[in-house]
Amino acid sequence: MNIILLGPPGAGKGTQAKMLVDKYGIPQISTGDILRANLKAQTPLGIEAKKYMDSGKLVPDEVVIGIIESRIKEDDCQKGYMLDGFPRTVAQAEALEQMLTQMSSGIDDVISIEVPNDELMGRLTGRRTCRNCGQGYHVMFDPPQKEGLCDKCGGELYQRDDDNEATVGNRLKVYADQTQPLIDYYQNKSLLRPIDGLGEIKEIFGRIGQVLG
Ligand code: AP5
Ligand code: MG
Repeated sequence: MNIILLGPPGAGKGTQAKMLVDKYGIPQISTGDILRANLKAQTPLGIEAKKYMDSGKLVPDEVVIGIIESRIKEDDCQKGYMLDGFPRTVAQAEALEQMLTQMSSGIDDVISIEVPNDELMGRLTGRRTCRNCGQGYHVMFDPPQKEGLCDKCGGELYQRDDDNEATVGNRLKVYADQTQPLIDYYQNKSLLRPIDGLGEIKEIFGRIGQVLG
C-alpha cells in the first residue's frame, strides 16, 4: 500500500498520517519532518534547507528527491508507506514515478485533503508540536491535556518557525503555484481520491478509511 497525502499547508496531512500509521502499520515519510530532523542535528542539509523553509519556499527538487529515493528503499517500507508532503512539484512527481517504475512498484492512492484557504491560517498559527515525539496539537482545535506538554510522552510542545503569519502566507502562495497542479496530474492518472478536510479530526480519519478500505 503506497499512498501519497496531498494537501495545502495545514490541511491535516501530518495529523491524519500519524493515525494511519497505527491503523495500517506502514510508515509516514514526511519530507518536512526529515528536513527538520536534519536541522536539529545541524547537518549541512538541514542548515541549507532552513533558508528555504523559513521563507516558505520549496527546497530544491533534487534535494528532496534524493531523500525519498533512499528512504523508500529501507526495510520498513517493504509493505508500503505514506508520503506526506512529497511530491510537491510536477518534477518531483515525475521523478517519483520513474524511480518506482524502476523498482517495479507504483502509487496506489493519492489522498487529496481539501481545506479552504481561510481555514488554514488559523490552523497553522495555532499548531503546537512535541519536540520529543512529533505529535501535533492545536491550541484551540486539539489542545493537550496539560498546556505546553505532550499527552503521549510528556515532551515540551513548541511552535514551528514557519508557522508565523508572514511565512504561512508565502507557503499558501507557493502551494497554489507549484503543488496544486499535482491535483490534475493525479486526476489524469485516476489516482486522485479527494477528501473533505473540514470537520472533526476523527471524522476525516473515517473518510480516508472508507476510501482506503
Ligand atoms: P511540511 O512540514 O510538509 O509543511 P506543510 O506542507 O506546509 O504542511 P504542514 O505540516 O504545515 O501541514 P499538515 O497538512 O501536515 O497539517 P497538520 O496535520 O500538522 O513542509 C515544511 C517545509 O519544508 C516546506 O515549506 C518546504 O520548505 C520544505 N519541504 C517539505 N517537503 C518538501 C518537498 N517535497 N519539496 C520541497 N520542499 C519541501 O495540521 C495543522 C494544524 O491543524 C495542527 O495544529 C492540527 O492539530 C490542526 N488540525 C488538523 N486537522 C484539523 C481539523 N480537522 N480541524 C481543526 N484543526 C485541525
Ligand atoms: Mg505536516
